[in-house]
Amino acid sequence: MKHEVPFITRNFGQYDTNSIDSYINIGGFSALKKALTMEGEDIAARIAAVKVKGRGGAAYDMGRKWSQARAVKGEHKVVVCNADEGEPCTFKDRELIAQDPFNLLEGMLIGGWTVQAQDGYIYMREEYRHLRPLLLNAIQQAEQKGFLGKNILGTDFEFHIHLYSGAGAYVCGEGTALIHSIEGKAGRPRMKPPFIKVSGLFSLPTCVNNVESFSIVPHLLLDEQGEYAGYGSGESIGTKLVSVGGNVVRPGVFEISFGTSVRDIIYDLAGGLPPGRSLRLIQFGGASGKISDARILDTPYGYDELKAAGVSVGSGAILVLDDRTSVLDFLRTTQAFFCHESCGQCTPCREGNLHIRLFLDKLARGEATGADIAAMKKIANIMSISSLCGLGETAQSALQSAMRIFPETFAVGGTV
Ligand SMILES: Cc1cc2nc3c(=O)[nH]c(=O)nc-3n(C[C@H](O)[C@H](O)[C@H](O)COP(=O)(O)O)c2cc1C
Ligand code: SF4
Repeated sequence: MKHEVPFITRNFGQYDTNSIDSYINIGGFSALKKALTMEGEDIAARIAAVKVKGRGGAAYDMGRKWSQARAVKGEHKVVVCNADEGEPCTFKDRELIAQDPFNLLEGMLIGGWTVQAQDGYIYMREEYRHLRPLLLNAIQQAEQKGFLGKNILGTDFEFHIHLYSGAGAYVCGEGTALIHSIEGKAGRPRMKPPFIKVSGLFSLPTCVNNVESFSIVPHLLLDEQGEYAGYGSGESIGTKLVSVGGNVVRPGVFEISFGTSVRDIIYDLAGGLPPGRSLRLIQFGGASGKISDARILDTPYGYDELKAAGVSVGSGAILVLDDRTSVLDFLRTTQAFFCHESCGQCTPCREGNLHIRLFLDKLARGEATGADIAAMKKIANIMSISSLCGLGETAQSALQSAMRIFPETFAVGGTV
């Protein structure tokens, strides 16, 4: 496919994922060897130079995060790999773990060296239990070969990796909830500060990154020719994994150069819509993402370009729905998800999600009034500014964008 580029995915299918020797044979761990000759600050600067943004959804500047984590003082620090991948229609991390597990470990090792951590934790969603043996084997082999443990590659660097299973809730992907879950507490978010980088897992300075964020690092360190910087458009440098699902002929994970048009992703890589169907809507970045219609098709897939078009990259998910699903049915399904996944800890999210669900049901029955629509709009706005965590803040993204793009869905005969 002309729009796919293998940079982060270049190891896929190239080695036996059960064998560390096989990984070493294709150059595995040479990025770690290189990293151990570099200052952590230089590694963070290298990531910052190509403007890598965290791939978990919030798009935080990764080089800056590692530099800040490195600057925090602490005898014992940790890095955490967020492999919870709970955002609906997001399944790229699963591919990175399944097809290149050693590269993920290498990325975490380089992260540990950079921020001066001694322990790395992988928090992997429970539904990926079939990948546990693969990761446990990779960790064990890395320990046996001296890539994990004490005095790694003859240096005084010590690093251990621990694998934890997720608790089965979407909210456990939120950083503080994830940390509570590893600690054996209920996976609920907490107020910040204290910030995770200062007091995170077991109250230690902690650096949390997504699977794709860690996975990109070994490739970047070995990229002497600047291949990565040759991809992309504008401020969005390099490549990105997107997971395309819904009503497309070939759903899947694709590595694209930033700047590839949404049309090429959906119609070329994912094979377009089933025959005879027309496009209803596209949701970007998972259930917490905004939606658009066919007007977005010629927009280049990049942080600024998507933002200007009213949506965002988020987790990299692209959900395509055709004319068989109404906007209202889509919103009601999304709303049912958030009602189920709200942890119930704070009022705007707990009550707001419930009430919006009731309003949407009323709308579906043809009983909603203009006052109901106005109340729904107001509640969505209150939720986005006053919820305790990102779940409540973004739960109404789809609704808010639908109100702009599909106003006819909310047209009612009652009084405002
Ligand atoms: C409700 C909620 C769920 C989240 N789920 C995930 C997830 O499954 N995986 C992930 O990497 N980040 C998730 N995030 C984002 C994380 O809180 C955090 O920003 C991210 O792991 C940081 O890594 P990055 O900087 O590499 O993106 C979630 C955030 C929220 C609010
Ligand atoms: S916003 Fe929702 S998920 Fe987040 S803490 Fe509040 S109730 Fe829980």
